[in-house]
Amino acid sequence: MMKFEGSHILSVSQFDRDAISRILEISSLMAPYAMRKKRCTVLDGAILNNLFFEPSTRTRVSFGAAFNLLGGFVRETVGEENSSLSKGESLFDTARVISGYSDVIAMRHPKMHSVEEFSKGSSVPVINGGDGANEHPTQALLDLFTIKSEMAPFNKNLDNLNITLMGDLKHGRTVHSLSKLLSLYKNVKVTMISPDALQMPDGVISTLTNAGHEVIQTDKIEGNLACDVIYQTRIQQERFASKDEADLYRGHFSLNKETYLQYCKENTVIMHPLPRDSRPDANELDNDLNDLDNLAIFRQAQNGVLVRMALFALTLGVENNLTKFEKPVTWHTAK
Ligand code: NCD
Repeated sequence: MMKFEGSHILSVSQFDRDAISRILEISSLMAPYAMRKKRCTVLDGAILNNLFFEPSTRTRVSFGAAFNLLGGFVRETVGEENSSLSKGESLFDTARVISGYSDVIAMRHPKMHSVEEFSKGSSVPVINGGDGANEHPTQALLDLFTIKSEMAPFNKNLDNLNITLMGDLKHGRTVHSLSKLLSLYKNVKVTMISPDALQMPDGVISTLTNAGHEVIQTDKIEGNLACDVIYQTRIQQERFASKDEADLYRGHFSLNKETYLQYCKENTVIMHPLPRDSRPDANELDNDLNDLDNLAIFRQAQNGVLVRMALFALTLGVENNLTKFEKPVTWHTAK
């Protein structure tokens, strides 16, 4: 079994099935704390440094909330312009310094492999919150947690899953990490719908095909949405040379209730890492889907807190002490 305590979480390639089962198991234990049924102060006094050098809402705030929910303190740096990286400091030096002020660090940065480079200077665990178009391991773990819980009522599992990934598969780090994790399961069918220019990188496809999975690449929605899970993505404009180039692809695979009812199965679950681009020219998941039970996007975002709590508990070696540090909740939360 992989040793979590003291380890960096940089890529999903670090995990085997047992490691993932352990993360998902600990994530489930976090539900009463995340739902404010009980408190847990197992990380009382510990410090998370959240370093977000690229825009983020869910990942940044849920990392912080997850740490607070375990009793720890959170400090934050947002935007490269507010850090000494903008004065030419190296990632290594920044890591040496910040890790001296922290027990664990979560980091997002626009450059591929930058979080790994940073981790080399860090004396504490570093968790990758997204490194450019490369990977987003914590998102992939929360996506697996979500698929597992959404499939459970239909007696389905991660094995034998039929999933459709849609949108900007070239630049979308969430679908890169998720595909690599899916390669660990059995008999998965992955349909990839994207414009030709935004296809999934070859390396990710071969991870799936080497594991014996069926991969279909197409630029058509018709006939390709009758799956267990649709995973829609945003055109990653920030990874294109210009807005005009991103405009060429925006809005190609918008999903609304009409397309859903026409092409999906009765129980097809809709996922999206969010943010969904709701501007009229993109509108990749229409608001008319909001009243569908199978729209899992907000449950998915909520699951991020559980999975990030689990990763903090595991990397800081407290996953077996949670109940010892339980306390009652003394206020009323409308949840
Ligand atoms: C994604 C990301 O930043 O890669 N968002 C997230 O972390 N939930 C997806 C995106 O920005 O489109």
